[in-house]
Amino acid sequence: MASPIILVAGARPNFVKIAPLLRAFEARSVETLLVHTGQHYDYVMSGVFFEQLSIRQPDAFLKVGSAAHGAQTAAIMTKFEELLETVTAPRGVVVVGDVNSTMAAALVAAKMRVPVAHVEAGLRSHDRSMPEEINRIVTDAVADVLLVSEPDGIENLRVEGAASRARYVGNVMIDTLIAQLPVARALEPNRTYGLRAGEYAVVTLHRPSNVDDAMQLEQLVTFLERLAHEMPVVFPAHPRTKQRLQAAGMVSDAVRMIEPLGYREFLGLVDSARVVVSDSGGIQEETSYLGIPCVTLRSNTERPVTLVQGTNQLAGNNLELAFTLATQRKPRRPATIEGWDGSAADRVADLLAELWN
Ligand code: UD1
Repeated sequence: MASPIILVAGARPNFVKIAPLLRAFEARSVETLLVHTGQHYDYVMSGVFFEQLSIRQPDAFLKVGSAAHGAQTAAIMTKFEELLETVTAPRGVVVVGDVNSTMAAALVAAKMRVPVAHVEAGLRSHDRSMPEEINRIVTDAVADVLLVSEPDGIENLRVEGAASRARYVGNVMIDTLIAQLPVARALEPNRTYGLRAGEYAVVTLHRPSNVDDAMQLEQLVTFLERLAHEMPVVFPAHPRTKQRLQAAGMVSDAVRMIEPLGYREFLGLVDSARVVVSDSGGIQEETSYLGIPCVTLRSNTERPVTLVQGTNQLAGNNLELAFTLATQRKPRRPATIEGWDGSAADRVADLLAELWN
């Protein structure tokens, strides 16, 4: 394949961002090469997203799998470098989000002098204990084009002296949400679980800071059981969370722990929830767009627009506060944020098609 734009995806949140980008490039007849690093590999973490979001089969699958951060990052770098050497005159590499695959691919491309664009650039939690924060900083340091999804991103990059590389494009994840919402709503996934719309909590947890510490995890389970006395709690558990809970023998009857859901089922479940309790990055944005109250079990966020304009509230590890926030009844209040409009991927494709001509 000659002169493609290479798109790299590796983990669950990446697939949601890559789907509209691929479509936007295809609509402009720009040749693309889709790389899946294999950071996530289970059907529920990967395959179901390709199916539901109509992402074509990857042109290259690097099969890196799970490992410690250093080993995983190194494996992605080694395999992506080998792949990039075989591509004739690549126009550029597009990486999305803040996972290990994002940083690894950006580093390789930058060293091989292939232009790099980072979609979702400029987000900063200012908390270097988060692996994703390191990934964001490194990726933005080496990328040539920084495509920003929310206003603080522009300010953060200005402070870091990177303003000249930054462009505000909006949020590609919201492109996918807007495209999929009608189907997600029609599914009424809450009915599958016998839940009444507006009457239940959706929980997700997977950050190492919450699930890798046995004491913190135990307190979280106690908190969820308390919440379950107030409203039904449904908890699609990430594989690492499930492993930790099972290893510690913490199985709760009150909380409905289920397998990770497909994109549409999860979106539909969130859309008719009373409240979402989570430590995810993307869910802070999705709930803000939908207007569903979100209690984030972290003490900081790289997505402050969700606090100011959206429905997100930080509880840190204060579970008393989390309980108070999660049980408050709040009216639905969808946020309007610049560039969260369903056309962010079109802006990215227009910009890169011109820049990398
Ligand atoms: C990764 C990202 C995180 C993102 C999250 C979304 C990094 C540093 N972290 O975290 O930013 O929010 O994805 O899910 O890149 N596992 C499976 N099946 C899979 C994938 C993982 O069982 O398909 C299990 C393995 O035991 C693995 C563990 O989950 O060791 C963690 O996976 P990993 O990709 O290292 O990190 P995540 O916690 O998923």
